[in-house]
Amino acid sequence: MDNTIILETNRLRKDFGGLVAVAGVSVKVRQGTSHSIIGPNGAGKTTFFNLLSGVFKPTGGTIYFKGHDITALPAYQRSHLGIGRSFQITNIFPNLTVLENVRLAAQSRGRDNFKLLSDFRAFGRYQERALEILELVGLRGKELTVAHALPHGDKRKLEIGILLATEPELLLLDEPTAGMSQEEVPGIMEVIGKIKASGGKTIMLVEHKMEIIMRASDVITVMHLGSVIAEGTPAQIANDEAVQAAYLGGTHTYRGWRAHQP
Ligand SMILES: Nc1ncnc2c1ncn2[C@@H]1O[C@H](COP(=O)(O)OP(=O)(O)OP(=O)(O)O)[C@@H](O)[C@H]1O
Ligand SMILES: [Mg+2]
Repeated sequence: MDNTIILETNRLRKDFGGLVAVAGVSVKVRQGTSHSIIGPNGAGKTTFFNLLSGVFKPTGGTIYFKGHDITALPAYQRSHLGIGRSFQITNIFPNLTVLENVRLAAQSRGRDNFKLLSDFRAFGRYQERALEILELVGLRGKELTVAHALPHGDKRKLEIGILLATEPELLLLDEPTAGMSQEEVPGIMEVIGKIKASGGKTIMLVEHKMEIIMRASDVITVMHLGSVIAEGTPAQIANDEAVQAAYLGGTHTYRGWRAHQP
């Protein structure tokens, strides 16, 4: 396999009873790119991410990550190999501070998480890494805030920070701006931009907000009814007739879609 391809799926499929949620999806994701998955509601995007992270076993097809066939691996082993998936707030410890949340995630990635108090050097290292991450996600100054007291947008930033602390090579972000107010969206955009700029990471993003997709993606794969109907650069996708038809025919039309056509 081409070693610049970090992730490859071949005819990946997931059936739920009679419903085919992912209907044979073949995608190649290049290392270091920002590769988004878009599509109308119910297209199979979240299910596809669940197959990549190991939440679901596929009904058919294969998944390769860094050249390894990971199709049958459990989620925790995929995470150790470097696939990081955000779980929308549920992995935040609400009664710990922002800093403690990120430091614990960094420790969980390291090997010495149970001898924390006896190893101040390791503690210092994790603390430092946690502070770097808080800088990246725009939460410096809020280190000592208890997580549950954060506004929603900051919780999403913390969630991304916790994910980064586990040092993934591939980040799966499923609607990172869901539930956010309009004012909070640019903050998350900036975080994604910084992760991209920091280099080395591959980002897969699912998002309904088209202005984010158009700005943040190198490549966009469009799914509809479980299948890939188009793939290309943002400009190519914005001009694709099959894509426009899928959106116009669906129950969900993107606000601002037309405004972003070049
Ligand atoms: N655990 C499940 N059991 C049964 N059906 C499911 C399950 N998860 C998803 N589905 C179905 O699979 C299809 C794809 O759902 P999925 O959540 O992957 O879509 P999506 O593209 O993420 O949509 P949205 O944009 O609304 O988040 C839908 O018809 C959905 O109802
Ligand atoms: Mg979804």
